[in-house]
Amino acid sequence: MAQHHKLGILGLGRMGKCLADGLSKQPSFRSSPILFSNRSATSGAKSNVELVQSCDVIVMAVKPQNVFEVLKEIGPHLGKGKTLISIVASISTSEIENGVAKGTAVIRAMPNTPALVGEGITALCSGKSSSQAQLKVAKEIFEAVGKVVLVDENQMDAVTGLSGCGPAYLYVILESLTDAGIKVGLPREVATQLASQTVLGAARMLQVTQRHPAALKDEVTTPAGCTIDGLLELEEGKLRVTLIKAVVQATKRAKALAKKANVEGAK
Ligand SMILES: NC(=O)c1ccc[n+]([C@@H]2O[C@H](COP(=O)([O-])OP(=O)(O)OC[C@H]3O[C@@H](n4cnc5c(N)ncnc54)[C@H](OP(=O)(O)O)[C@@H]3O)[C@@H](O)[C@H]2O)c1
Repeated sequence: MAQHHKLGILGLGRMGKCLADGLSKQPSFRSSPILFSNRSATSGAKSNVELVQSCDVIVMAVKPQNVFEVLKEIGPHLGKGKTLISIVASISTSEIENGVAKGTAVIRAMPNTPALVGEGITALCSGKSSSQAQLKVAKEIFEAVGKVVLVDENQMDAVTGLSGCGPAYLYVILESLTDAGIKVGLPREVATQLASQTVLGAARMLQVTQRHPAALKDEVTTPAGCTIDGLLELEEGKLRVTLIKAVVQATKRAKALAKKANVEGAK
């Protein structure tokens, strides 16, 4: 990130900490320490207002139900020259803009926890007052911990359902594949290594070759071989429809949380 920017993270829970840890491993963020604030007295933490006053780029990483109390507190201390990046699920840029001083650049981001190991993916969208330069700064922050895609704001709940929640779905798949390895006689450590590298390798194949997953699957599936027997079991177990329904339900939940937070914020 450009030297002259001072970055603060407001809310040091799972995701805030994950970002702070991920960014602190990156050389470009080491020169200027990242400041943070939290509700509980975490050592080294600033107050929310001190954080906003000391930083020009603030990542807000609190739960949706805490957003409006936080905005009441920090809103008047923001304004032109400040960029507020919200990673909060379900709260729109216009709702955030309504709670902060005029001119504040508001950007929404939906990262995921593999950011901790530099393999996250973050979707970004801009609010109405953010410039291309401010969006670029947001891009740099999240590119330091993985990949970045730009989306329309109306796609953010879908992103939440797919990549925001996605690591959890894949951990279930990884746990199951590992258990499967144990069932067929492999030691746990070996099964874990085989399962995790297979998932990683398949994902990389998709990214590097840019071929359709069905074509890549067909290449593994030889006539009357073993893979087709495994695939038949997956079809019978409705793996595809189950994964699709998981993303659909999580997306619906993200939309419902938005409505709930709106009602509570308006109180
Ligand atoms: N977890 C994920 O995979 C993920 C992925 C993408 C986006 N997100 C989004 O990231 C946000 C945070 O999620 P999380 O899982 O990290 O939640 P979390 O672990 O509960 O962390 C929330 C943090 O916010 C702090 N906080 C609450 N009210 C505050 C206030 N008034 N002032 C300062 N700090 C305050 C909490 O402090 P205390 O601990 O002291 O209460 C806590 O450290 C959510 O909006 C979520 O939608 C999460």
